[in-house]
This record gives sequence, structure tokens and C-alpha cells, in this order.
Amino acid sequence: MTVAVYPGSFDPITKGHTAILKSGLVAFDKIIVAVLNNESKKPLFSVEERMDMIRAATDEMGVEDGKIEVDSFDGLLVNYARSRGARCILRGLRAVADFEYELQMANMNRHLNPEIETVFIMADDAYFYVASTLVKEVARLGGDVSDLVPAAVAPRLLAKFDR
Ligand code: PNS
Repeated sequence: MTVAVYPGSFDPITKGHTAILKSGLVAFDKIIVAVLNNESKKPLFSVEERMDMIRAATDEMGVEDGKIEVDSFDGLLVNYARSRGARCILRGLRAVADFEYELQMANMNRHLNPEIETVFIMADDAYFYVASTLVKEVARLGGDVSDLVPAAVAPRLLAKFDR
């Protein structure tokens, strides 16, 4: 069975992320969506909230049971991947701007553990401009993000910003 870890902050999960997951399932038997426990970065949503929204979003996708697991991690990603028996790290690539950061991370992870490969999937062009940071800013300023995030996420964003 080919297992990949799909790591990220997911603060919150967007339709860009779910599109990557859907494509990832073409290549992998199982994907573990791993939320970075990064309270020091002052995320908008707690790890539990982020995991709940990912679970709701993957339920919405109607994926067969057992193909997606939601978990959290801290420490080094390669150590987490190894502890879960995953040989691949899955990342989405949007615009060229993502490339340098992703190249740096992929090479650092390869240096830390050459047995784990990073696999990239190009983001769906419909969501090329969708990033959690932008979605949060637009929602905070009263813009409509309902087309950009899974159905379970929009009301939670509104609640965070008292809208
Ligand atoms: O969604 P993000 O914030 O771009 O995801 C970044 C993430 C979680 C993939 C990255 O910060 C990470 O892997 N953090 C764990 C710490 C680690 O392993 N660092 C060294 C490798 S660069």
C-alpha cells in the first residue's frame, strides 16, 4: 500500500487543498493529512478546529473510508512520516512563487532522510490563487469566500470574525 503524508498548517483547509487531496488519491492508496501543531505561529484556528474542518471537508468529498486519515504532528516532518510508515510527502504547487520555498523544504527533507521523497501535484487552475492567508484576510474584511473553502469552513470563518 502506498501511503503519503500531506502536511500543512491548514489554517483553514481550502478548496485548493481538497483538490490536491483528490488528485493525490489517484497516485496513493492512502493519504494522511497532517496538521502542523504550530501554536507559536499564532494560527487563527486551534489544531483541533483545523482537524475537525479537514474531517468535515473530506466527508464532503465522499472519499471511501480509510483512504484519508487526519492527524497532527510536531517536530520534524520526515520523522513523523517515518513513524507513520510513509515514504512520500505530498505537496501542492500553485504559482511560481511557491517553487523556491517548496524546493528548499524538499531538499532539506531529503537531506534529513533520503528515503523519503517529496511529490508535487500542480494545483487546479481554478484554485491557483487560493491560499489560507488570503482567504482569512478576505473573510476578515467581509468578502465572500464561500466558493473558495469547503462548506464546513465558511461558517467557522464568519464566526471567528463575528460576522
Ligand atoms: O502549509 P504550510 O504552512 O506551508 O506547511 C509547512 C509545513 C508544515 C510543511 C512545514 O512547516 C513543516 O514541514 N514543518 C515541520 C518542521 C520541519 O520538518 N522542518 C524542516 C523541514 S523544512
